[in-house]
Amino acid sequence: MENILITGGAGFIGSHLVGKLLEEGNKVIAADNFTLGKRENVAKYADDPYFELVETDVQDIDALEVLMNKHKINRVYHLAANSDIQQSAKDPMIDYRNTFNTTYGVLEAMRRTNCKKLFFASTSAVYGEKTDVNLTEDTGGLAPISYYGGAKLASEAFISSYAHMNDFDVLIFRFPNVIGPNLTHGVIFDFIRKLQNDPEELTILGDGTQCKPYIYVLDLVDAIYRYSMNDRKGVEIFNIGVENATTVKEIADMVCERLGLENVKYKFTGGNIGWKGDVPKFQYDLSKIKATGWKPEHDSNGSVKATLDSLDIQLCKR
Ligand SMILES: NC(=O)c1ccc[n+]([C@@H]2O[C@H](COP(=O)([O-])OP(=O)(O)OC[C@H]3O[C@@H](n4cnc5c(N)ncnc54)[C@H](O)[C@@H]3O)[C@@H](O)[C@H]2O)c1
Repeated sequence: MENILITGGAGFIGSHLVGKLLEEGNKVIAADNFTLGKRENVAKYADDPYFELVETDVQDIDALEVLMNKHKINRVYHLAANSDIQQSAKDPMIDYRNTFNTTYGVLEAMRRTNCKKLFFASTSAVYGEKTDVNLTEDTGGLAPISYYGGAKLASEAFISSYAHMNDFDVLIFRFPNVIGPNLTHGVIFDFIRKLQNDPEELTILGDGTQCKPYIYVLDLVDAIYRYSMNDRKGVEIFNIGVENATTVKEIADMVCERLGLENVKYKFTGGNIGWKGDVPKFQYDLSKIKATGWKPEHDSNGSVKATLDSLDIQLCKR
């Protein structure tokens, strides 16, 4: 049994990871300030004696230090971040605080408490706008175009230096778009919300051709667990994802079909991006992780379908 801290543990991906880590027999402390996460995401674990949910801002290093000492934390999964990229586009401080400064808080608390093992949730956004190349972990010239991508790349850089200075062992996964039950944001979430308000017309940001790989959250969480528990020295980075990709227009069609809506009028806002800072297309080269035997259960369209299946009950209720 390990004593594990998950930052952002009440969020979309964090809550699934809580379930996985408990299932594997660990003690799990979830830290969240509930800016975007919700207590109900982890409510089903509330009676588990090996689980605790703590309300705290992960930027508060002193509080984190006390928490980590109290629970003898020996491994951290750092997922706390701003995930509302459109919101931070209007206010860069959101990403400075919640995406970068939370990472600094975690690293410093780990240094103070002599905790050596870290998993970090990074993103394809660190690569910036490289639409015509298959992105490998060694692709250079990283130039993020969103504050979020910048804060994640800065986090990776700080992690590298802390790992070297303090002998941390770190696994970094650069996620593509992640979807599944308990979604808190993103294109599927937006389309459902918009169609619930107006089932006749759907406003689609951009021209609908934006095309990205979507990974199913349970496939991702299995990989996070499996790979983070491997022995390693230093910092290891993996692109994780699926081979194919799905366009925004295809997602709109699948959401409408699942809602039983026909003849919905699509209104495109135009241009090939959803918003400034959005990377309209990207594709990973997954050779590195595939060489280890990784194969997700769902491809990109399969992830969208499985997500819509998992959200069925919520849709019927409204
Ligand atoms: N969902 C995706 O498509 C995706 C893609 C790439 C990377 N990621 C990364 O995965 C991680 C989890 O994302 P998610 O999709 O579950 O988003 P999420 O918003 O559901 O989860 C993030 C959690 O962090 C918490 N948080 C934010 N600032 C905090 C702070 N200062 N102190 C404590 N808690 C704080 C939020 O309340 C939330 O519960 C994030 O680091 C995100 O950047 C997600």
